[in-house]
Amino acid sequence: MTALRERAEQARERAYAPYSGFRVGAALETEEGTIVTGCNVENASFGLTICAERNAIAAAVALGHRRFRRMVLVSDADLPVAPCGACRQVLAEFGPDLMIESWSGEDRAEWSVQTLLPNAFGPDALP
Ligand code: THU
Repeated sequence: MTALRERAEQARERAYAPYSGFRVGAALETEEGTIVTGCNVENASFGLTICAERNAIAAAVALGHRRFRRMVLVSDADLPVAPCGACRQVLAEFGPDLMIESWSGEDRAEWSVQTLLPNAFGPDALP
């Protein structure tokens, strides 16, 4: 198992998902090779839940990282989960070339952010 997948699994263990019971872990590899993780954090006000992907991005940015190579996801789903729409937009902010790899057991899927969110609205659109 890759270090990224192992770190994503460890992050999934820390998910705070008392409402859905659905845990997600994300491990993000920065351009320098640092691994930063995130998990989903739910809230009694359900709409305030934050996904694992966005938490990993926020944690990495807070540590000073803005350039990323790859994100690995693990969840409790039967099939590899793909990032939700909100997370796709947040991932696109940091580049269309970022690769997202997702696992469920031994099933693996992989997409680029560009594939998940074509024609994304991004920083270039702003004056
Ligand atoms: N969730 C994620 O963390 N990432 C995804 O890619 C899909 C959904 C979380 C949000 C919520 O806590 C739970 O999974 C069920 O939707």
